[in-house]
Amino acid sequence: MARILLHEETLDPAFVPPRLPHREEERTRLFQRYRDSLEHGVPHHHLVTGRIGSGKTALAKRVGADLERAGRLGDAPCRVVYVNCWRRASDRTVLLDLVHHLDIELPDRGYSLAEMLDIFEQGLRRRPHHWVVILDEASALLRQETKLIYLLSRSREVGLGSISLLLVTPEDILPFLDAPSRSSFGITHRLELAPYGAADLTDILAARAELALRPGAYTTETLGQIARIAAPNGDARFALELLTNAAQAAEAAGASSITSDHVRAAKGSIYPTVTESHLEGLSTTGLLVLLALARRLRGGTLTLTSRLLRESYGELATEFGIAPVSRTTFWRVLRELDQLGVIGLTTTGSGESASVTMDEMPASFLTTLIEERLARDPRVPKR
Ligand SMILES: Nc1ncnc2c1ncn2[C@@H]1O[C@H](COP(=O)(O)OP(=O)(O)OP(=O)(O)O)[C@@H](O)[C@H]1O
Ligand SMILES: [Mg+2]
Repeated sequence: MARILLHEETLDPAFVPPRLPHREEERTRLFQRYRDSLEHGVPHHHLVTGRIGSGKTALAKRVGADLERAGRLGDAPCRVVYVNCWRRASDRTVLLDLVHHLDIELPDRGYSLAEMLDIFEQGLRRRPHHWVVILDEASALLRQETKLIYLLSRSREVGLGSISLLLVTPEDILPFLDAPSRSSFGITHRLELAPYGAADLTDILAARAELALRPGAYTTETLGQIARIAAPNGDARFALELLTNAAQAAEAAGASSITSDHVRAAKGSIYPTVTESHLEGLSTTGLLVLLALARRLRGGTLTLTSRLLRESYGELATEFGIAPVSRTTFWRVLRELDQLGVIGLTTTGSGESASVTMDEMPASFLTTLIEERLARDPRVPKR
């Protein structure tokens, strides 16, 4: 039997493809903005937003690599540091990561933010580069009332040399930043990535299949089928995951090419995994709100008003032996879940009449995930 997955590693989420169909224009534009500024010795800051799987991370990393490859820009070459803030959701841990990128050994504990900034500054001074710091999932920092974004976006004024920021978040976070940081970003420094349509996803799948799969092991029709399944969310990650699983299913069945049945089998066996990884960082309130939502949506309902959701959440919290949070806190948690892309929030009027949706994965599946997580959560009293 001929193998189908010849270069599976090129389908790995960590792999940054050389070409990004339907993002090449954005790639060039972003690259030029940074290059033109840096050539004049001025740091540049940009925010990239877009829904799950819209290619934000891939674009940011691609542009970062392009900038490093561009050689000397003005008086120095460019070096890029990528940090995922989701896992390192505090200024200290992000800064620690940055310091490590300068090859400075520093223990995880024992240094204050100010001391670490000093060490970081010394490290930077030894390496006169334009530093481009990619802060992926930066909303996680905002929830911790970050000062780091301010400090890094004003690197010149605070004596940190040339640091440019590239922030990546699901939603526009500029309104939540302090005024000085906001002004460093200006109004033209935001790039919103539209969700991919079915035709875009087909092209993306074709480009990735060409790298990963044996020629002849798939047809354009199969790729189109996968693209149609993923198109409602415009999620390239989901599409690629489907392709990988369909290829694996075909190999396991001893088939020489991927058929539509392999695609269906793949569809049945997976859901976008990003939401699952997002659950890890949620507060107990966040988990309970999501569980209340998932339970209400399990019956096939598509949306819920925030008032009904708050009631359900209240009942659920009581059921778990936890005092429900106030209306204001509840609202803040909803906004956070929305910012993370876990739920969709549409505010029509004000407050309680907002409608809440959850399209990322089947509600029953989400219910199981959260219930398991809550059962293991030491913050939740045992029932
Ligand atoms: N235009 C594209 N061409 C080729 N591959 C792409 C393209 N856009 C996205 N991908 C691939 O799809 C997957 C998801 O993209 P990416 O991780 O960049 O999405 P994201 O917007 O960062 O999602 P999230 O909000 O979940 O972090 C990655 O494997 C990425 O390489
Ligand atoms: Mg991403």
